Amino acid sequence: MILRKKLIAGNWKMNKTPTDGVALVAELVTAIGKQTDVDVLVCPPFTGLESAGKALEGSTLKLGAQNMHFEANGAFTGEVSAPMLRALFATHVILGHSERRALFGEQDAFINKKVLAALKNQLRPILCVGETLAEREGGIALKVVQTQLEAGLEGVGKDQASTVIVAYEPVWAIGTGKVATTDQAQEVHAFIRGLLVKLYGDSIAQKVRILYGGSMKPANAPELLSQKDIDGGLIGGAALEARSFVDLVKAAAAVK
Ligand code: 13P
Repeated sequence: MILRKKLIAGNWKMNKTPTDGVALVAELVTAIGKQTDVDVLVCPPFTGLESAGKALEGSTLKLGAQNMHFEANGAFTGEVSAPMLRALFATHVILGHSERRALFGEQDAFINKKVLAALKNQLRPILCVGETLAEREGGIALKVVQTQLEAGLEGVGKDQASTVIVAYEPVWAIGTGKVATTDQAQEVHAFIRGLLVKLYGDSIAQKVRILYGGSMKPANAPELLSQKDIDGGLIGGAALEARSFVDLVKAAAAVK
């Protein structure tokens, strides 16, 4: 029995107009819109969610957002809420991405509120964790990941924990072409799995998918994805073109 189906998620970041996004989704639907071996998710910017959602209708592709506010509505200029995302048929939301943390000052307690709000609204959170280069070189990578994970999951009960997805994204590997070695990545993924065991027990921890993110490409994906605790990828640059994203999905499907 496959305990954890692989998940390949495309984080488009601040790229693609709605028209460009629809064109990309159309190519993806043609190439991989029927396969069920791997879960596939696209996360356009807010402005592209509705049109991308329509373009992937009837396929096996899923729709996610890149961020949200934890309140349902109110005076929060520029923000978007979980019920608004649900109304566009999003099923997932990326939370606590390192770019949100570094460039927009998001901190663990704030991210935790979003995780809880996502779960309350039947959105699956993809909680991002990961250390900077200075933190890795300072020997505190695991400690940083532990703090981010435990704080991000504060108040998430056993009944909901298996719907959470964790993404380990070493900040120094994002958009730099510097991928973590498979050993470096697997070490942190196994560490995260161990923390989940402590928090939720073994059977729930074995169900949680832990994605790797940071310069994942078709060339390095097979080795990363064959690691015991790497259950998929959160893809930036290589998600912006159909060919590389499709190849990543195929690489995930080929892992036994
Ligand atoms: P890259 O794949 O461009 O390194 O981005 C990774 C990422 O940040 C996905 O969320």
